[in-house]
Amino acid sequence: MAEYQTFEHDVLVIGAGGAGLRAAIEASAAGVSVGVVCKSLLGKAHTVMAEGGIAAALANVDDRDSWKVHFADTMRGGQYLNNWHMAELHAKEAPARVRELEAWGAVFDRTQDGRILQRNFGGHRYPRLAHVGDRTGLEMIRTLQDHGIHQGMDVHMECAIVTLLKDGNRVVGALGYDRDRGRFKLFSAGAVVLATGGVGRAFKITSNSWEYTGDGHSLAYHAGAELMDMEFVQFHPTGMVWPPSVQGILVTEGVRGEGGILLNKAGRRFMFDDIPENYRAQTCDNEEEGWRYTQGDKSARRPPELLTRDHTARCIVREIKEGRGSPHGGVFLDISWIKQKLPDAAEHIKRKLPSMYHQFKQLADIDITKEPMEVGPTTHYVMGGVRVDSETQMSTVEGLFAAGECAAGINGANRLGGNSLSDLLVFGKRAGEFAANYAKEHGRGKVDDLQIEQAAREALKPFDRAAASGAKPEGPFQVQYDLQEVMQNLVGIVRNEGEMRTALDKIGELWERSRRVGVPSNREYNPGWHTALDLDNLLTVSEAIARSGLERKESRGAHFREDYPDKDDTYSKLNVVVRKASDGQMEVRREPIPEMPAELKQIIEEMKL
Ligand code: FUM
Repeated sequence: MAEYQTFEHDVLVIGAGGAGLRAAIEASAAGVSVGVVCKSLLGKAHTVMAEGGIAAALANVDDRDSWKVHFADTMRGGQYLNNWHMAELHAKEAPARVRELEAWGAVFDRTQDGRILQRNFGGHRYPRLAHVGDRTGLEMIRTLQDHGIHQGMDVHMECAIVTLLKDGNRVVGALGYDRDRGRFKLFSAGAVVLATGGVGRAFKITSNSWEYTGDGHSLAYHAGAELMDMEFVQFHPTGMVWPPSVQGILVTEGVRGEGGILLNKAGRRFMFDDIPENYRAQTCDNEEEGWRYTQGDKSARRPPELLTRDHTARCIVREIKEGRGSPHGGVFLDISWIKQKLPDAAEHIKRKLPSMYHQFKQLADIDITKEPMEVGPTTHYVMGGVRVDSETQMSTVEGLFAAGECAAGINGANRLGGNSLSDLLVFGKRAGEFAANYAKEHGRGKVDDLQIEQAAREALKPFDRAAASGAKPEGPFQVQYDLQEVMQNLVGIVRNEGEMRTALDKIGELWERSRRVGVPSNREYNPGWHTALDLDNLLTVSEAIARSGLERKESRGAHFREDYPDKDDTYSKLNVVVRKASDGQMEVRREPIPEMPAELKQIIEEMKL
């Protein structure tokens, strides 16, 4: 029999980034007992990588903004594959969630008259990102953490979950282990909220740190829930490219929001070369007007650097592929040029972008107030995730909720920068509220000893393989490394049928190898073992991305296929959904998007004018 410690919570939240903390706060406020599991230390979350701000139509800087404009921008950015009801709720509720955060102690930058300051970001029509310099996500986590701890919740730090436990079609808990001593922990719960973030570690170049191995996506999938939109992986246009040890680290879109421009090796501002039809009317065609826009001139149109991320990343890839890139395989991002416009430019840059200033100074010996940065696309975010009900955030499995990056819906084919932070506040709150209701109504379910035994045995297999005589076991790190190569090279920014099929064959081989992974020594402080257990999650999400990518035979948003370079109407009103079939295989199907109500359609039409 496996030994384990047991913990009982009405609501168990797995993941302690912004969505997890906001869910935990709401559930706790509803009077139920709450446990929060985090894979690393509390406060260390990818949320902090949303540096530039929280998108919310507060209209503090431009009073033409409203939830309707935010809704229309989000739908257009997502190429209309978004769950329109989630996009509506998000746009309507984001301002209240930001003000609430302020009331809980978040120290935002201010306008001259003392309101929360907002900045420009790609795809947002008006300055909409409430921010704290370029450390907004960090301030959000700090605030939620402080508030949450005082609200009351039990935190299980450095704990990874290996399986969800079920009673029929209902989730009743989870089995995990503490990452320092390797002891199993059993969580019995009335409802479970997944808030584990993204899948970036399936790729070689990413802004995500080691925790982001698709755990929530994979736990939900293996528990019988559906995943949706997995073909849409966001490559943030600007990550560091040099030196190699820091490749992929995020360079906030806030740099472009503050006037930063993208240049190729000839010094040409290449973003002017290719402005998509549906953004043409709102995008300027000269440097002077772009500058005036970033300075708040309401009559000016946006600079092309503030087009959506999918488009910007592809333009950068084009420059690099066609030999016009920077020395280390990126392009140049220049904010120092604003010294031609502002007498105190250096101080201005340091004030607005303090983290970027220090990041480049310390990691690359570049002074961004004097010289351009070298940047290139980095895997940043996955639009796809657990398919949830738009009101409650409950998945297709009873009692299992999901919020934030690991849930699908709000972003469609491409997320607008800043919408992640507002998404996790709006839907984290909703998930916490409805999970608490569910737990109150249904109580804690019955946990099956057999499921616990089986999961514990599976988790310990890598030790058995290392101990068994015979063929040399596979090393977990090598399998993860090989998977990252496959995903980066064959299922990256530009895709085609042949490469995705090859990727699936290779993923099949990697699944086989993962079943031969062995790790020596014992459970204590054993990163090899942790990686061995992460592999199932990484392979599950990678397979889902490749299969969904093959199914969508068109280019839309972040999914670009060189063999189908255009949008195709056949796919304009459907999501791709995957689930685990009864034979254990991954089943892919197309799911029609419900018809949008007339009043929302009208808003979108009005905003096009
Ligand atoms: O560029 C950034 O600051 C990232 C923001 C986001 O992903 O929302």
